[in-house]
Amino acid sequence: MLRTHNCGELNPTQSDSEVVLCGWVHRRRDHGGLIFIDLRDRYGFTQVVINPEDADIFKQAEAVRPEWVLKVTGTVRKRLEGAEREENPTGGIEVVVSNLEVLNQAKTPPFEIDQDKDVGEEVRLEYRFLDLRRTRMQKNMKMRHDITGVIRNYFRDNEFLEIETPIMIKGTPEGSREYLVPSRLYHGDFYVLPQSPQQLKQLLMVSGVDKYFQIARCFRDEDQRGDRQPEFTQFEIEMSFCDQDDVMSAMEGCFKELTKAIRPDKKFPDTFPRMTYQEAMNRYGSDKPDIRFGLEFADVSDIAGNCGFGVFESIVKGGGTVRAMNVPGGGSFSRKDIDDLTDLAQRHGAKGLAWVRVGEEAGPVVKNSTPEFLEALNKITGAADGDIIFFAAGSFPHALEPLGEVRKDCAARLDIIDKTKWAYLWITDFPMFEKNADGAVGAVHHPFTRPHADDEGLVDTDPFAARAIGYDLILDGNEVGGGSMRIHERDLQKKIFSILGISEEDAERRFGHMLRAFEYGAPPHGGIAMGLDRVCMLFADEPNIREVMAFPKDQKAKDLMLGAPSPMPEAQLTELGIKILED
Ligand code: AMO
Ligand code: AMP
Repeated sequence: MLRTHNCGELNPTQSDSEVVLCGWVHRRRDHGGLIFIDLRDRYGFTQVVINPEDADIFKQAEAVRPEWVLKVTGTVRKRLEGAEREENPTGGIEVVVSNLEVLNQAKTPPFEIDQDKDVGEEVRLEYRFLDLRRTRMQKNMKMRHDITGVIRNYFRDNEFLEIETPIMIKGTPEGSREYLVPSRLYHGDFYVLPQSPQQLKQLLMVSGVDKYFQIARCFRDEDQRGDRQPEFTQFEIEMSFCDQDDVMSAMEGCFKELTKAIRPDKKFPDTFPRMTYQEAMNRYGSDKPDIRFGLEFADVSDIAGNCGFGVFESIVKGGGTVRAMNVPGGGSFSRKDIDDLTDLAQRHGAKGLAWVRVGEEAGPVVKNSTPEFLEALNKITGAADGDIIFFAAGSFPHALEPLGEVRKDCAARLDIIDKTKWAYLWITDFPMFEKNADGAVGAVHHPFTRPHADDEGLVDTDPFAARAIGYDLILDGNEVGGGSMRIHERDLQKKIFSILGISEEDAERRFGHMLRAFEYGAPPHGGIAMGLDRVCMLFADEPNIREVMAFPKDQKAKDLMLGAPSPMPEAQLTELGIKILED
């Protein structure tokens, strides 16, 4: 190594020893004839001092600019009393320079590396190699490394085999759009990049692997959002001869170790609580509720049916439901707060957001409904003067989702979230099927998910009422992962494909390998996959997953640093048998 020590390790016990350090100029200060440079590397910062007596070195040091790369030789010296910096591990010493070598110069960076100021994301992503020099990003990369270390050790210790599955596979959509890779040898044919290793890990169960794990790259050509990337990472497992409790407790154990190792400041219960999908929707209007706070819903359909308020009465008559959420202290919300919350509810599909300020004669509900209704309402919801009650009215479950959003927003407005808690929650018993936007039947999880033993009959007669053996893990209102018990019988798999509107021919073409494998002794099996990027984001208290990925794409799926995607030379396209159509 060009250095004897790194920039984060010297302390007063090394006083008087000669050392060599390499690093970047983080900051240079000229002070009463002395020059101080904070030299930075991955490990920390060390202050080096240049005395004016060494005229040549002093002259060199005067020319030094931020982000230049230096090699300095010098003697460690305990700092003068009062000049120590406790917040810096090397803050007790400085290095008095006897030789200085400039290893490389640097242009002025497009943003300051030495400050955690807000910098536009575009310029950060374009100059990601500089952005990653910043303390925040160095910390995030280190934390991600620590997290994958804990995960790997945990699954290895628990007899899971780490197996890599291919990145170029066959087009077998599980739900979202796939990225294609054209074949040079077979013009017109394509590989696709996997949305997840789902089918391969199931096939490994047929192979007798018994317990599999992988930290796997996944690719989905979806519209971007804060917590989505076209390319992301899952840590995921699959197990044979197990039931859902075995899969859930294997993953729960991993999260307990992770939390203890990486976020010892966060409290969580010994056993993660569980809630069915039905209960979560009923109580919180969400299939990923944040349970660090209350604001639970009450079903007031019974009393709303003849309350005098037309909107509620007609919805109840039509077979719909009315839910009330009491917000203690929410009586202080201004008209503007209520308008904002109404907008929020409407953006999530509500027709409106009815409300009652408890003890006040304002708003359409109070003006139009009976005193008996208002009294009963307060009783059921426990509301008192100074509170506000919001309502959702319509059909289950969709009418409840907007109120679920209002619930989260109210908690943030009133600042009632206990941030010392780490609220893990399992959601179980998801429905098997949902109606897609085009009215077609879709799988809530994916087509390989097993129906509840009790509901196998419903799959034919009333598919939307059938429950899956599917489960998600939620952390503070974020879905960090999901999984299911799988179908291992050819006939049941064929039936599910047909309910999903996949013809027998199509099933054979797309999923023939699965159906074939199920003819050769497939064991009962199940598994789960967690979004590593989301986990890292939450553990690092970051607002989006780009902050915990070294080289993410931007919101429009572009890599601004590399300039991808980009056009390809004509010759390369011809080799692939590809012609580009003009837009
Ligand atoms: P699912 O599609 O629910 O399940 O994905 C599992 C987890 O992966 C994360 N995730 C993403 N993270 C970042 N960007 C994305 N675009 C993205 N999409 C998903 C989420 C999610 O909870 N094969 C099944 C799992 C199984 O059944 O074992 C699957 O992929 O945190
Ligand atoms: P309207 O009679 O349409 O003016 O609605 C009266 C009040 O009820 C307004 O505050 C609306 O925002 C609210 N509202 C209308 N439809 C619903 C609904 N489905 N759920 C909850 N509130 C609603």
